Order: sequence, then C-alpha cells, then structure tokens
Amino acid sequence: MARLRLAVFVSGSGSNLQAIIDCCRDPACPAEVVVVVSNRAGVYALERAAAAGVPALVVEHRGFMNRGEHEREILRRLEPYRPQLVVLAGYMRVVTPVLLEACRDHRRGLPGVVNIHPADTRAYQGAHGYEFALGMLPEHPRRLEQTWITVHFVDAGVDTGPIIAQAPVPVLPGDDLDTLKQRGLAVEHRLYPEVIRLLAEGRVELKGKQVFVDGKPAGLAGDARTGGAK
Ligand code: GAR
Repeated sequence: MARLRLAVFVSGSGSNLQAIIDCCRDPACPAEVVVVVSNRAGVYALERAAAAGVPALVVEHRGFMNRGEHEREILRRLEPYRPQLVVLAGYMRVVTPVLLEACRDHRRGLPGVVNIHPADTRAYQGAHGYEFALGMLPEHPRRLEQTWITVHFVDAGVDTGPIIAQAPVPVLPGDDLDTLKQRGLAVEHRLYPEVIRLLAEGRVELKGKQVFVDGKPAGLAGDARTGGAK
C-alpha cells in the first residue's frame, strides 16, 4: 500500500520531527516524511531534516502581507512534494483557512492538518503548555498534578480542533521546566507517531467534532485516553 505523504512543519528544535522520521524509517510504517517546512532559517530541525536526507523548505513569515499570503507561498512550494497530511510539530504560527482548505482530505472527509500540544487543549491553548502545568503563568498560578499531551486536528481556532488522542504526564513535586519538558517530550515522541500511524492506516473518522478510531470514540491503547468533542 502507498505510504501517507507527510509534510512536517517546524519552527525550532524538531525533536518531534525526529521521532516521526525515526518511526518512518521502519519499512512497515505506513507514512513517510516527504518534506519539512520551517518558517525560521537556521533552526535545529533543519539539521535533523538534512541528516535524514529529507528535503526542507524555509519560508520565513516576515515580509508577507498577512498569514494567508505566507501560507499561499508555502502551498506553492509544497506542490511538487504532493503531501497528503500536514503535521505541525512545534510550528509556532497560527494557521489560517488558506492552509486548512487547501490541505483538507476530501476523500476521507477529514481535516488535513494535525498538531501536537503539550497540554490538554480543553484546559489551555497557545504556547507555554509546560509552564501552564507548573503554574508558572500569572493567569494560571495553579500547579497541576498531571498534564495531558494532546494530538488534535487543526481548525481555524487556536488549539480548538477535535482531539484525536491524549496521553498523561505526571507533574512531580521536584519538577522544574526542564525536568517536566523532558518527561513530556518523551511522551510526545511516542504519541505523535502512533496517531500518524492510525491516520495513515485509515482508522480515524470524524463525525461532527467527535473523532472515532476503529469506529469507537477516540482513544488509544496503553496510557492514552479517549479524545472528546470540544
Ligand atoms: C513541543 O513540546 C510541542 O508540543 C510544542 O512545541 C514543542 C516543540 O518541540 N508545541 C506547542 O506548544 C504548540 N502549541 P520540538 O521542536 O522539539 O518538537
């Protein structure tokens, strides 16, 4: 069976990109990274792409009239790679309907863009998800006992799209930002490839805002919990 062609969007270190690349190295993996897109030059994610022999496009966002114009340029340059799914992996830009409409998977009736978020998107949206869990943000001073890594379809809001899967990360008493991030990223690196596999195998459906995996309300084996409608 043909492998699902992924375009992975990054802005920084790219550790999730690495996890996805590593997973796709397995010939049994039903997906492949055909291109990496970065809105920043010089980021480590680009070195990871080069080391893996994956082509990369740098399309810096400065100089475009608005987000939509930036995305039109990305889409134009993506064309030769014929991606089937856009995977946001630490891509620190809010995407617009320009990208969402162009990437929609009409055949399966699914959104064509997914994202990983280091918190429960029902509790917290935007950047600094680990700081949120530690109670470091002035508007969220409560430290959580556990946070949830979330993989979701992207819609026109910020971290508001239907949840595909979540996995818990305990927040331990001695944790600082570094230790929590380290533990959380290890979970991210497991969960994201797992969800990509489900999508590539055609096991994910969306009815309204509820995701179903293998016909059941979304949830994964192991420590992941059911995704829910927003
Ligand atoms: C990850 O923790 C990811 O969940 C987060 O950025 C980090 C990227 O790390 N994404 C967001 O906060 C999106 N709201 P990476 O570049 O090493 O994959």
